[in-house]
Amino acid sequence: MRIDGSAYRTIWPEEDGRAVAIIDQTRLPHDFAVVRLTTLEDAAHAIRAMLVRGAPLIGAAAAYGVALAMRADSGDTGLERACATLLATRPTAVNLRWALERMRARLAPLPEPERVAAADAEAASIADEDVAINRAIGGHGAALIRAAAERKRPGEPVNLLTHCNAGWLATVDWGTALAPVYAAFEQGIPLHVWVDETRPRNQGASLTAWELKHHGVPHTVIADNVGGHLMQHGQVDLCIVGTDRTTATGDVCNKIGTYLKALAAHDNGVPFYVGLPSPTIDWTIADGVRQIPIEERDGREVSELTGRTADGRIETVRVTPDGSPVANFAFDVTPARLVTGLITERGVCPATRQGLLGLFPERG
Ligand code: MRU
Repeated sequence: MRIDGSAYRTIWPEEDGRAVAIIDQTRLPHDFAVVRLTTLEDAAHAIRAMLVRGAPLIGAAAAYGVALAMRADSGDTGLERACATLLATRPTAVNLRWALERMRARLAPLPEPERVAAADAEAASIADEDVAINRAIGGHGAALIRAAAERKRPGEPVNLLTHCNAGWLATVDWGTALAPVYAAFEQGIPLHVWVDETRPRNQGASLTAWELKHHGVPHTVIADNVGGHLMQHGQVDLCIVGTDRTTATGDVCNKIGTYLKALAAHDNGVPFYVGLPSPTIDWTIADGVRQIPIEERDGREVSELTGRTADGRIETVRVTPDGSPVANFAFDVTPARLVTGLITERGVCPATRQGLLGLFPERG
C-alpha cells in the first residue's frame, strides 16, 4: 500500500542483507517509524511487544527472525533455538507455528553453509505468498460487497463493520478483512466502514483508522459497544473480521470482542464474514473454545491509555482506580454457527469442515 505516495510493505529485507526493516506499529497513528531488526532477539521482541502484530505478519516476521538467527548460528542448535524462541513470543496466532514449521522443514535437511541463503529465500517466499493470498481474498470478498451494493439504492454506500486491525498492517500487504474493502473501493463501489476502536490496545482506532484514512476510504471510528445498536437500526450491511486461528470445523478465534459482534450480527440478520488466509487454518483442532490458547496480556493495557496531547506529547494515563485488579484476555472464539462465510484465497465457503475441505481437498 502507499503512504504519502511511497509503496510500503510492513516488513522487508534491507539491501545489504544485514537487517530486516519493519514499521513500528506501537507508534502509530501518531508517528511513522521504521525499525531495523538485526538479531533473533530483535525479531522476538518485535513480535512480543507488538511492534509487528496481526496473524499473517507475525508469521512473516518469525520467518525473517529465523533468517536473522541463521547469520549468528546456522547449525542445528541455532535453528532449534531460533524456532523455540520465536514460538514462545505469542500463543494464539497459528501462523507463527506454521511459518516456523515451514522454515524448519526447508532448512533442517540442508548443509549449514547453505542455510543463510535458503532462509532468506524462504522468508521472502512466505512474505510474497502472503501478499498473493490476501490479494485473492480481496477479489472474492469484493464480490460480496458488490452484491450488497446491488441490494441498495444506486449510489448509497455499503456499510461494513470491522473489528481490530485486519488490514495491510496486520499482514505483509493488503490485509485480510480489509482486502475486500480495498478491492471494492478500487472498483468504485460506494462504501463506508464502521471501525471498532478495539480496546484495550485500540488497534481499530489507531491502525485501521490510520490505514483507511491514508487510502481515502470513508470510515467512522466507534466505541466497541456501538455495533449492536447500529445493527438494530439497519446501519450495518456486512461485518468482515480477520482471524488468528480458525479450526478445521470453522470456529474463528480473533481479537477479543469479535464474538460479541457475531452474536449481535446473528440476532439482527447481518452477514458475518471472516477473511481467512489458509496459513491461519489450524487443521489439527476441531473445537475452538476448548482447544485454542487465548493470550493473556499485561493488565496495564486495560488500566492505562496512551495518546497524544494537544501540544503533541505522547502520554500514558491511568483510567482505573489504583489497586483495582484487571484482566486482559486478548482473543475470543466465535463458534462456526455464527459465521456466514469464510473468505479464503480459493473462494468463499461455509464455516464447516465440509466447506473448508471443499476448497482445500488436499487436507482431507
Ligand atoms: O493482537 P493482534 O493485534 O496481533 O491481533 C490481531 C487480530 O486479532 C487480527 O484480527 C488477526 O490477526 C487477523 S489479521 C489479518
